[in-house]
Amino acid sequence: MNIIIKKNAQEVAYEAANQVADILRDHPAGVLGLATGSSPLGLYEELIRRNKTEDLDFSRITTVNLDEYVGLGEEDDQSYHRFMKDNLFSGININPKNTHLPNGLAQDPDAEAREYEELLSRLAPPCVQILGIGINGHIGFNEPAPVFTVPTHVVQLTEETIEANARFFDSKDQVPTSAITMGMGAIMRAEKLILIAMGEGKREAIGALASDVIDPMIPVTMLKVHPDLTVIVDEAAGADLKSHGES
Ligand code: GLP
Repeated sequence: MNIIIKKNAQEVAYEAANQVADILRDHPAGVLGLATGSSPLGLYEELIRRNKTEDLDFSRITTVNLDEYVGLGEEDDQSYHRFMKDNLFSGININPKNTHLPNGLAQDPDAEAREYEELLSRLAPPCVQILGIGINGHIGFNEPAPVFTVPTHVVQLTEETIEANARFFDSKDQVPTSAITMGMGAIMRAEKLILIAMGEGKREAIGALASDVIDPMIPVTMLKVHPDLTVIVDEAAGADLKSHGES
């Protein structure tokens, strides 16, 4: 695990963008794994800037996203389809046909999860998968549970997650109660993982990376056994990782 602690959110974004841009230049037709939430927003802004003003090219890149809310479609303001379009895809030269997210409006979400898993297994493993983290340690929407789930699946969101994500909706009761998420299997298949977190609210969840156990009740702990995990955090989120191999 490579830990990089930066002063603030802007430096986190810049560092993450440097790493992602280097990987994409080495894999110009690669698969890029993407995440939603506020944490990767600065990274996406920087990737858009480099696409417009530098030689960072997405014309042959394919993207796969971690998750989508059940019940929300491309036209919904809070869907992850919409988030990705507004915050990344519309700003870069990617072919929309090469961007993939689970379909939150599928009539049968379990069947959609199986299809998404099949799609993932047909594609090359992501050369890099971007990850954020929930305050309860969730990755994608892999919520704390007694066991890890390997394939893409439908998940009931925890009360904690619904409350945390209510800030993006008009009210808490508008937050969907379930989602389709890549399982820990597909996430762990990526060649490289970059986990981004900022702020005191993420300190405890990020601090769990310093423990000696892999605990499905704190899903992020699974990432410790990935052979190429880079954690890029600000000082507040990384406070409990300070003495744990920071570079
Ligand atoms: C959602 C997403 C996660 C993301 C998390 C944190 O729950 N499914 O992939 O990591 O939000 O979001 P934020 O970065 O806004 O704190």
